[in-house]
Amino acid sequence: MSSTDTKAAKLIRKCVIPAAGLGTRFLPATKAVPKEMLPIVDTPTLQYIVEEAVAAGIEDVVVINGRGKSAIEDHFDIGFELETTMRARGKTAEADKLRAIANLVRIVSVRQKEPLGLGHAVLCARSVIGNEPFGVLLGDDMIDSPEEPGIGQLARIYQQHQKAVIALMEVPDSETHLYGIAAGKDLGNGVIQIDHVVEKPKKGTAPSNLAVIGRYVLPPSIFPILEKQTTGVGGEIQLTDGLATLQKTEGLLGYKFQGQRYDAGDKVGYLKANIAYALKRPDLRGGLMEYLREVVKTEKP
Ligand code: G1P
Repeated sequence: MSSTDTKAAKLIRKCVIPAAGLGTRFLPATKAVPKEMLPIVDTPTLQYIVEEAVAAGIEDVVVINGRGKSAIEDHFDIGFELETTMRARGKTAEADKLRAIANLVRIVSVRQKEPLGLGHAVLCARSVIGNEPFGVLLGDDMIDSPEEPGIGQLARIYQQHQKAVIALMEVPDSETHLYGIAAGKDLGNGVIQIDHVVEKPKKGTAPSNLAVIGRYVLPPSIFPILEKQTTGVGGEIQLTDGLATLQKTEGLLGYKFQGQRYDAGDKVGYLKANIAYALKRPDLRGGLMEYLREVVKTEKP
């Protein structure tokens, strides 16, 4: 990443990470453990998301919490007993690694008292965000992009065009009903000027194959829009519906981001993410590859 890019990303100082969902797709694992704390290899999914925000220069993270999510706050706090015990046992490097998690970023948690939808979750961050552009990162979407973090890419586009920007990725026709879908004019270099965005269109009605992936950089003018937003698909206040209004009033861009995306909110996607992230680890790669080769050879389709 060039120094100009770093500066661009730094213009976005705050982000929102909605984490109040019930995680019903991962029951029973999520009965007592927040979905965001499920590990990819040995690190909670939420930590990867926070690290992506930090890598993009974000200084304040607003986590939107629901009930029973105190493990999230504990994870980003100092683990005093654990650290003291580890240091007493001479495990200094490991204790330092734990401390680094607490030092990553300033985290503010805001309670979403009722699960009224993603748009409502973002609205809950209004008083902490104030009057400045901000990022939104959805924990189910992991973007592996070592060159430039996903949210940093959007912050750069926001700075260039001074317009709200959302991450887009092409998906097959069979999957368009699972996403927000955007259509518009290709401005080149991966930037789309969106003229239509719709949440989870019914099969066969999607305006394009460009799915909204969980990264957004938005102006504070989204808040009054969300405040007035009526319920949409699933009886929820949808962020996408708010974005459709923003598109009409101020314009909205899409960006076909660079990097590999994993859907950690889906069981197969979650398993793929675990394998991919484990294969990047020199200490795990050899043993895992050996096992995968064996599985491919012996398992029947
Ligand atoms: C949310 C958004 C949707 C977006 C998706 C990306 O849906 O509402 O527009 O395409 O995230 O993962 P969810 O998957 O939470 O139902």
